[in-house]
Amino acid sequence: MPVDMELEMVLRPPQIPMPPYPPKVITLANGKRMVVRQAEREDVPAILKSVHPCLFIQRDYYDIVSARLYGELLAWYRYRVKSEYCLLGQVDGYLVGIVNGRLENEKVGMSYHTLAIDRGLRIGSHLFAAKMEYHIDYIGQDEILIVAESPIGFRRWMVEYPLEPTKIPHELGGGDSWRLTREIYLKAKPRLVVGDRPVPKPLLDEAMAEIKFADDATIRERIAGLKGR
Ligand SMILES: CC(C)(COP(=O)(O)OP(=O)(O)OC[C@H]1O[C@@H](n2cnc3c(N)ncnc32)[C@H](O)[C@@H]1OP(=O)(O)O)[C@@H](O)C(=O)NCCC(=O)NCCS
Repeated sequence: MPVDMELEMVLRPPQIPMPPYPPKVITLANGKRMVVRQAEREDVPAILKSVHPCLFIQRDYYDIVSARLYGELLAWYRYRVKSEYCLLGQVDGYLVGIVNGRLENEKVGMSYHTLAIDRGLRIGSHLFAAKMEYHIDYIGQDEILIVAESPIGFRRWMVEYPLEPTKIPHELGGGDSWRLTREIYLKAKPRLVVGDRPVPKPLLDEAMAEIKFADDATIRERIAGLKGR
């Protein structure tokens, strides 16, 4: 179907310019090296291949978080959301975690989701920290509004940082937002934000070459264990 570009210009929201997130590498607790890098809009179909199997895993709220993330990434791909970005964690080229969010305005960020596809390695924790690093250190924002859908998410963000409660509604429509301010970030940074730059070229080349995805059964087993099959 031909795209009516005149109408598209009305339907597509304006985008706030964002600097690139410089890639970094994190050595995980199992010794594997995870490349954290920014996704391009064109990467969305490949990313969705890893999100799709998670839609059917009820454990730890993977289903609702994946369904929302799926929609958010499609909205970015199809130009239906304002100023969204997505960061990826890859090990040996395989996608092991995803974080996304967007800019509400120049100074306020809206955190969307964190999905750890491989577990027990704090992959989600590292990626959430990378997302806060992007908002504060690279985009130069003052605060980020955050909610959690799961008890693990609540422990990881609200308790570990710790975030401050507010009465500000969050775009995801759940409980009121919790806020990460620049001050909270700078205090938590030495404890929670890790990684080395630059990423050695062969590692980065491998990550950029292809976003590999594990098969459904492997993803299910990694997230929910053998009993989750
Ligand atoms: C929340 C989340 C991103 C945290 O990722 P993470 O930091 O990599 O942490 P893990 O999920 O591996 O581990 C969290 C806890 O689950 C437990 N866990 C680890 N591996 C597990 C496995 N294979 N099966 C079940 N539980 C496991 C551990 O006890 C761990 O506890 P800890 O806090 O003592 O370390 C991740 O759990 C996730 O993607 N959850 C579903 C989506 C979600 O809730 N997102 C956050 C809301 S926006």
